Amino acid sequence: MNRWLDELEQQAAAVLPTDVYDYFRQGAGTHAALDEATPAWDALRLHPRVLRDVTSVTTETTVLGAPVQTPVLVAPTAAQHVVEPGGAVATALGAAKAGSLVCVSCMTSRPYSDIRDGGAPWWAQVYVLRDRSLTEDLVGRAEAAGAAALVLTVDTPVIGDRPFPAPSADAPWYGGELLTSYPPGPIAAALTFDDIAWLRGLSRLPVIVKGVLRADDALTAVRAGAGAVVVSNHGGRQLDAAIPTATALPAVAQALAGTGAEVYVDGGIRSGVHVLAALALGARAVLLGRPVLWALATGGADGVHRLLSTLTSELRHAMTLAGARSLDDLTPDLLGFAYATGTAWP
Ligand code: GLV
Repeated sequence: MNRWLDELEQQAAAVLPTDVYDYFRQGAGTHAALDEATPAWDALRLHPRVLRDVTSVTTETTVLGAPVQTPVLVAPTAAQHVVEPGGAVATALGAAKAGSLVCVSCMTSRPYSDIRDGGAPWWAQVYVLRDRSLTEDLVGRAEAAGAAALVLTVDTPVIGDRPFPAPSADAPWYGGELLTSYPPGPIAAALTFDDIAWLRGLSRLPVIVKGVLRADDALTAVRAGAGAVVVSNHGGRQLDAAIPTATALPAVAQALAGTGAEVYVDGGIRSGVHVLAALALGARAVLLGRPVLWALATGGADGVHRLLSTLTSELRHAMTLAGARSLDDLTPDLLGFAYATGTAWP
């Protein structure tokens, strides 16, 4: 664990009400998936390049065509107003200052139009509810408010085995609609790959499928119309003992190579070196969940800006030492995989 991020979490724990901290901090079951996430990134070792003229190193990239200054993006987390009154608007302001992108939970603390005004490019996360008319309405609101993509969460047919319920607070919004209850209704457990095409048909936005851990699922999702996948185990909050994303990523990236689909990853990424490793393993960007909440709790929009900028500085520093001038230079050989010679990854 990165020491300053550890301290940030401790500071957040000191200022947040216990039920709020516990809700966001928790994992499912025995915490195997939660506890193994960061150690799996820590265990990776780099094979740095030398003599590459690293006087100028850039972390700029695009995600589904949207330009960003950093591949460190913000994962969707619900009801951020219980963490800080500014909620998702403050997060979007901080992300905009850092040149990042926010993925906005469908159970958002503020309406889409306010979040958009924060100025960051944004994606709308979608849970398909059993009452699909609510989801159709949500997608329409997201598109109208300028979302650049829909992020369909697919690892939550039911909620994981977690001890702490959502903190009692004002109900959040489902997209643009203030809810009278939270959650707004049961999530559809009957989703299949066919629903990717259904979701695509509701708007002109690309669909990103979040919560994929297997190469076969990733490929099937892309064949069904997904423009990208997020390798994620939902921050260890769903299936206990789910594989760490650092371990799952290489096979997914390899399966999607040549399809044109992008791969992102979240789960336990806590340093610039972790980001470098994730991109070298085939991710185009990473998403951060809990650290953003801790930054929001302790510093509001400025805290989120600081978090994203600091991790981006760490990434730039690690790239400089690894002989990588741009994110395109982050390839699997930096992890020791003989990618260039066609040798299979582990
Ligand atoms: C909801 O998706 C949660 O992880 O709390």
